[in-house]
Amino acid sequence: MEKNIVLIGFMGAGKSTVGRFLAEKIKEPFMDIDAEIEKKEGRSIFEVFETDSEEGFRKIESREIEKTLNLSGYVIACGGGAVLRPENVAALKSNGIFVYLKADANVIEERIGEGGRRPLLKSTNPRQAIDELLREREAKYSQVADVIIDTSDLEAEQVVDKVMDAIDAYR
Ligand code: S3P
Repeated sequence: MEKNIVLIGFMGAGKSTVGRFLAEKIKEPFMDIDAEIEKKEGRSIFEVFETDSEEGFRKIESREIEKTLNLSGYVIACGGGAVLRPENVAALKSNGIFVYLKADANVIEERIGEGGRRPLLKSTNPRQAIDELLREREAKYSQVADVIIDTSDLEAEQVVDKVMDAIDAYR
């Protein structure tokens, strides 16, 4: 089975944008887990958080991730919290190369703006929320990653090229 390329990392790291470009370039199918959730639920991630709370969202997210078990040769963009549950990591790792798209807090803040459609950053102080969550999660992202790419000073196209170079060794 050809391995999937699984993009992980914090909100605003560019997982969806890079994923779509990358899939186009290597002519493989693309799957965005958050988009799958929204399609399946018929509501936005924001609404899922509001109605079902974060815990409810995580359950739906795990269910969607479990479905990727049968996939091969996909580029998969995950939500920023997808690797927090060990069962999600196990499912995605079973046939996936984990590429951690890293970005520093300043860049994330700039890319995300006011927090907008991201429930976890909808706070009076989004920057503080970014700092706290990054601190909690950074070690986890690095620990599960096969490849780490710092995207802070790069355009999406440049990140795509770096991912392509890096995954050559794995595929
Ligand atoms: C989340 C990230 C979001 C989305 C949800 C939770 C997180 O995805 O899954 O709001 O816990 O980091 P993006 O990383 O694509 O913004």
